[in-house]
Amino acid sequence: MDDRFNTIAGWTLFGGIAALGLASLSSHYFLADKPERPEKMGYAIAGVEVEGAAAVKEVPLEQRLATGDVKKGEATFAKCTACHSIANGGANGIGPNLWAVVGEGIAQGRGGYAFSDSLKGKGGKWQFAELDKWLTNPKAYAEGTKMSFAGLTDGQDRANVILYLNAQGSNLPLPKFDAAAAAAAAAAAPAAGAAPGVVAIAAGDAKKGEGVFAKCMACHTIAKGGANGIGPNLSGVVGEGIASGRGGYAFSDALKGKSGGKWDEATLNEWLTSPSKFAAGTKMTFAGLTDAQQRADVIAYLKAN
Ligand code: HEC
Ligand code: HEC
Repeated sequence: MDDRFNTIAGWTLFGGIAALGLASLSSHYFLADKPERPEKMGYAIAGVEVEGAAAVKEVPLEQRLATGDVKKGEATFAKCTACHSIANGGANGIGPNLWAVVGEGIAQGRGGYAFSDSLKGKGGKWQFAELDKWLTNPKAYAEGTKMSFAGLTDGQDRANVILYLNAQGSNLPLPKFDAAAAAAAAAAAPAAGAAPGVVAIAAGDAKKGEGVFAKCMACHTIAKGGANGIGPNLSGVVGEGIASGRGGYAFSDALKGKSGGKWDEATLNEWLTSPSKFAAGTKMTFAGLTDAQQRADVIAYLKAN
């Protein structure tokens, strides 16, 4: 299983390298830390549509997860409920109950559900990458599976539904999303005609971020040991668990619901784009920063503190 995973990871990496190679000139330019580099880089090429499935290069899973949407995943899960319950302690139906399935053994447990030999023969765990393959085409993943479901062809639908599964009792940290590589791929994409819907994170400037942070200071201190105010003190928040510690700050249940994850560039970018979208019901009554460069800059500033 690990070997297979490594092979796939290897090919994925190779694909990324090949894409970078194709556009080496432009990515070289965009990545270089030169004063004339564009102020905005690595943005979403929202609306870029590539005709024909063959032309569509899949956005890497880490990125689809980082930019995915649990709520949309819940909606997509409607396609699964004919056969699956997901509530804790829910009954097995045509398919097994799926509570806390992410990270669990493939075709294991599930209250004695009678799995097919095909799925039982897989071994390994339902890691994010395995689920992504399974949900693309169950029959291709486990020939002879009992899951008579065609699969979800849209990669973002799969990522969203995996995020939803993960939020039901598993709450595993998401795989690391390399924003720099994604930014380069996004910069390369218009030339290569690939990676539709890429949302990448711009490179930030901590000095400019300090200026942006003025918008946060009504509610947040950032100095080490600074007091909690309306919001928690933010010293060293990058790399920390979401809604954890912070001198006993009373987080909302909404943000605590995300506490399996970490504050990294991807999660902060999503949070600061729209706090109430990231965690519906959050206490952070701040509309969000619509400018991606401002988000990147303030994230760089948070990192430096
Ligand atoms: C038509 C019924 C049906 C639909 C629709 C369906 N499944 Fe399944 N699912 C099954 C069956 C049956 C199995 C057991 C497969 C086997 O043993 O080969 C299964 C197994 C699984 C497993 C493996 C569980 C484990 O513990 O190993 C996962 C995960 C899963 N389904 C997720 C989904 C998701 C997510 C969807 C919707 C996008 C979905 N399924 C739609 C019937 C279905
Ligand atoms: C109007 C007050 C307010 C403003 C303005 C504000 N925040 Fe917050 N912030 C909060 C509150 C309240 C929370 C706790 C949210 C919860 O528990 O749901 C929070 C939580 C956070 C967290 C999560 C901390 C953790 O440990 O999980 C981060 C990161 C954060 N804010 C960053 C920022 C940044 C950066 C800005 C400015 C761009 C900002 N906030 C602007 C009130 C504010």
